[in-house]
Amino acid sequence: MNARTAELIERLSREHALSEADYRALIEARDDESAALLAEKAVAVRHEIYGDAVFIRGLIEISNICKNDCLYCGIRRSNANAQRYRLTPEQIIACAAEGHALGFRTFVLQGGEDAWFTDAILCEIIGEIKRRFPDCAVTLSLGERSRDSYKRLFDAGVDRYLLRHETADPDHYARLHPASMSFDNRMRCLYDLRAIGYQVGCGFMVGSPFQTSAALAKDLKFIEDFRPDMCGIGPFIPHHDTPFRDRLAGTLEETLYLLSIIRLIHPPVLLPATTALGTIHPEGREKGLLAGANVVMPNLSPVQVRKQYELYDNKICTGDESAQCRRCLEARVERVGYRVVTDRGDVKKSPSKAQQ
Ligand code: 5AD
Ligand code: FES
Repeated sequence: MNARTAELIERLSREHALSEADYRALIEARDDESAALLAEKAVAVRHEIYGDAVFIRGLIEISNICKNDCLYCGIRRSNANAQRYRLTPEQIIACAAEGHALGFRTFVLQGGEDAWFTDAILCEIIGEIKRRFPDCAVTLSLGERSRDSYKRLFDAGVDRYLLRHETADPDHYARLHPASMSFDNRMRCLYDLRAIGYQVGCGFMVGSPFQTSAALAKDLKFIEDFRPDMCGIGPFIPHHDTPFRDRLAGTLEETLYLLSIIRLIHPPVLLPATTALGTIHPEGREKGLLAGANVVMPNLSPVQVRKQYELYDNKICTGDESAQCRRCLEARVERVGYRVVTDRGDVKKSPSKAQQ
């Protein structure tokens, strides 16, 4: 690590901001030493805000039917080999009930853009979950919808919404998505969600095809400006039935490096150690926590459909019962010196010492 890189890291941890050119320089300067320094600072600032707490979210994958055709994704519409499924409202509520008994207080309902899940149907499911488990937060991750739809879902009680921006570079966006999808609409969704009152999560894949350090610098600048409540990042992993089947996966090291940087840009952010990170390395999620992540998301989907929610190859946790997945993650969290907390785990809104 040269003096310039050390100065960038110092400035980032002091000011929580860099120019786009400096983000790019920092990304390009990655080596073991700079990664270790960033991780040390990221863990320290997370500790000031959240102590040794790691939040758990129960993930329920409600449908793998999707009208979109993202080039990277295994459940894209054009993948005729995907075995499609859709959980019934009763199945979704049963998953939440099982999760609640296991201690979960946040449920993330995630799925493809499946038109069967109208606002009316979703509002009924959300209403039922909120009635039965009033102490729980509900998070949706169901892609792009209209502002009216987001508003109706919010009024039905949804607390949070995850919608990865995927890339903050419009040209890169166009190379990852079909012409029918637009970068501007993606951004419109994120700003609508924010304006309505949701806690909002954005995010991107690390090492996606055509990604450059300049594009990553734009992602970091976007996170600095948007200040998301949550930010999901994980390595790109090729899926054998997509146009990107022969591409290289993103790396563990680059993902960890970016996790640390994002923690320093926005110290209170809720940052998951993702399933994709656990897929590229057996201890990927533990390493994610040690780089600054503070959320894990065990799978609560019914075991019989788990393999079908295959966004990328070799996804982990597809054979384990919810209880096993929760226990497994708890053990992993404790092994690296942290503690799973089971409250709702809302983002800390008050400025941390580090931000003053
Ligand atoms: N590799 C890694 N992550 C992927 N996602 C979709 N396909 C892949 C893949 N092949 C991510 C996208 C999406 C989230 C639900 O999963 O970023 O927003
Ligand atoms: Fe799901 Fe280990 S985290 S089985």
